[in-house]
Amino acid sequence: MKQIIHLDINGEAQDIAVEPYHTLLQVLRDELGLIGAKKGCDTGGCGCCTVLVNGKAVYSCMVFAMTAQGKTITTVEGLADGATLDPVQQAFIEAGAVQCGYCTCGMIMSAKAYLSSDGSHLPGDLEMRQAIAGNLCRCTGYQKIVDAIRLAASRRMETSAKG
Ligand code: FES
Ligand code: FES
Repeated sequence: MKQIIHLDINGEAQDIAVEPYHTLLQVLRDELGLIGAKKGCDTGGCGCCTVLVNGKAVYSCMVFAMTAQGKTITTVEGLADGATLDPVQQAFIEAGAVQCGYCTCGMIMSAKAYLSSDGSHLPGDLEMRQAIAGNLCRCTGYQKIVDAIRLAASRRMETSAKG
């Protein structure tokens, strides 16, 4: 039987009727029309459904929507500030890190969580690859994705150096 739950998604409070077995991914896509998070494997193996829950990258296909109550959820749709893209989104475009695009939103959310967690240094390739280790790109465009994360990281350092 459906129950009303209260979710904080992209800074907006939402009351949504869900079945206890509905995943967060189902609710985002089917109830709220937030289709940035993709359904790939639906078993926690590909990362294309990644969103931020309390700032951490999470597979939304592996989370029951009911358990997300009281937490802050951010999807790729919540990153841009009006017409201004988030720096990570902008870097993905500039670095040519988008091929078919199916993995892209999940990649961006994992990169976002990683870059939000430590802004003190310019990460090495290995560190950046570890940050997206839970995300598969079937177009195998990993180098450009790493280039994009590096670009976003270097801009973040420039910004923090300016104070
Ligand atoms: S769809 Fe969630 S990890 Fe693959
Ligand atoms: S860009 Fe196609 S799956 Fe990654």
